[in-house]
Amino acid sequence: MLCFGSVVMLAGCERAMHDMYAQPKYKPGASSPLFANGSAARHPPDGSLPAAEGERAGPSSGRLGRIVTSPAQAGEGRSYPVTMALLQRGRNRYDIYCAACHGLTGAGNGMIVQRGFPRPLPYTDARLVRASDDDLQRDIRNGYGLMYPFGDRIDTHDRLAIVAYIRALQLSQHAPVKRLAPQDLNALREGGAPSR
Ligand code: HEC
Repeated sequence: MLCFGSVVMLAGCERAMHDMYAQPKYKPGASSPLFANGSAARHPPDGSLPAAEGERAGPSSGRLGRIVTSPAQAGEGRSYPVTMALLQRGRNRYDIYCAACHGLTGAGNGMIVQRGFPRPLPYTDARLVRASDDDLQRDIRNGYGLMYPFGDRIDTHDRLAIVAYIRALQLSQHAPVKRLAPQDLNALREGGAPSR
């Protein structure tokens, strides 16, 4: 009897769930009287950017697909001026969102890592020094491997600011001597602090 009761109850569940299948929405490829060309599918508005591409992009809502956009398409090329204000904004956002794992200097030894989270590569790793600004800002937006995506809380401008600051962190530990200003080179030779 107990068994019979649960069958009846589950059957009720199935009916209720069926209502959820009947949703007022168009399936891909459906026709529609609402639009002049009779198709329910709409072209994306001009200037839309794909959130992700690749076979895993759909089912994972874009989290796992690689973004394939050219810098010009994305409007996120490298042709932005790196100002002190941008770097300061980048540092501010970096310290808030990234340092807990990547560490204040980008060495990969933030507090969360010290507490057991897998350690990311230091930003001075040759692969990350070679990575383009687009690659880095895309990793921030989409996440990378174990790192969750930040696209919903860090906008394009701030992502660029953070990337600019990551470049500064890389330089702070790996600056080629020939890129130093003469006064900094002197300070270095004398073992003093940099001029700025
Ligand atoms: C919760 C910890 C955590 C936070 C917070 C975090 N990251 Fe990461 N990040 C990681 C880990 C772990 C990896 C390595 C992931 C892997 O290899 O699977 C990584 C990888 C990266 C990479 C390297 C991608 C590559 O190509 O190897 C970059 C760049 C990066 N993070 C930037 C950032 C920036 C910028 C922020 C802040 C907006 C940030 N991360 C916040 C943990 C974190």
